Amino acid sequence: MKKIRPVNSLLIWPTLPPQVYFKAKSNWRPFPLDQDNCRIYSKARQAIWQAFTSLNLGPDAVILMPAYHHGSEVEALLKAGLKIRYYEVNELLEPDPAGLEALLDANVCALYLIHYLGFPQDALFWRQWCDARQLLLVEDAAQAFLATQQGQPVGSHGHMAFFCLYKTYGLPDGGAVVSSVPPPFPSASRQSGLWRAFKRHINWVATRRKEVGLVHLLFKPVQTWWNRSLSELKKQHHKEFEVGNPSTPPSTMTSFLLPKLLDEGTAEDRRKNYRFLLGHLGEMVPPPFDSLPEGASPFAFPIEVSDAKSFLLRLRHRGVGGLLFWLNPHPSLPVADFPRSKALREGLLALPVHQELTMADLEQIVQAVQEARVGLTAKAAVAG
Ligand SMILES: Cc1ncc(COP(=O)(O)O)c(C=O)c1O
Repeated sequence: MKKIRPVNSLLIWPTLPPQVYFKAKSNWRPFPLDQDNCRIYSKARQAIWQAFTSLNLGPDAVILMPAYHHGSEVEALLKAGLKIRYYEVNELLEPDPAGLEALLDANVCALYLIHYLGFPQDALFWRQWCDARQLLLVEDAAQAFLATQQGQPVGSHGHMAFFCLYKTYGLPDGGAVVSSVPPPFPSASRQSGLWRAFKRHINWVATRRKEVGLVHLLFKPVQTWWNRSLSELKKQHHKEFEVGNPSTPPSTMTSFLLPKLLDEGTAEDRRKNYRFLLGHLGEMVPPPFDSLPEGASPFAFPIEVSDAKSFLLRLRHRGVGGLLFWLNPHPSLPVADFPRSKALREGLLALPVHQELTMADLEQIVQAVQEARVGLTAKAAVAG
């Protein structure tokens, strides 16, 4: 059996440095936090449910949704009473106008556009396309908080847009919506968020202390197994998509930490890390992620691999927690009808790129990927 060495553990999620408590609050309020019609809930899926419920679209309303999606956004839309009609993305992960046109009928009320991995879609084009057909444009910027396009914030062209604050900063939770019909403020009782903030602190320590990194490395698969077994026991088969109470406000810790964490340099720090990884691993990165647009705020660094599960394991042994980017679609998706989305789910592996990474962390990621690649190529050669 292969010996696992102590190694710093690097995850996709931004960590929470302990010195955050000594930081002054920032006065900077990036979009959508500077908008009167912005509402913040615990999760973006709750914001989606709230925004669509406030629209009262009726029982026949259909939304055009990419087959390449997380799943929780689909669940929130279904729970809000919408019908989903899926479209395939093109090789640049954009909707195809001709493909969309074929899906239109009198019941279609909205186009759902996902800004994948913090890379802006051409929202201005899609807004004009929607306006010409009297459709709503919905921008899913869950992974694109702080991203801009031609100086305009991502999310500002849509009739509504959604953001995950905790994907950009080491917060326990926080999902925002900005909408032309603002939903009600969350009214359920507030959670403390202490446990999740503590875990983000531990993640920070694990990036700096090999011993903690090792425990992290060993503990994570056990935790995943435990959560999965528990869900199976409770017959909650798609727990990762559950909406929960849509009136849940962001936790106390999120409200306390967010103004301390907001920083005008965050998107550029992420871009700097992305450029470094692109410089070393660029040939593994598929379009459109192989060149970095000016205003992107990368959520993760994607590489394309053929044996993703083995690759992930090899990365983990080297302290890098990659993520198979949306392995499981929402159960309502007829998977076989959308081959490109299926291939993306099986082969697109996301690596950490967040602003808390140091140069040594980035070098560790590059080395881990190169070693995993060489190891798997050698294994394939032996098997062949
Ligand atoms: C594209 C997209 N939309 C919506 C969501 C839902 O976000 P949350 O987990 O905050 O509900 C996610 C979550 O990963 C996502 O990736």
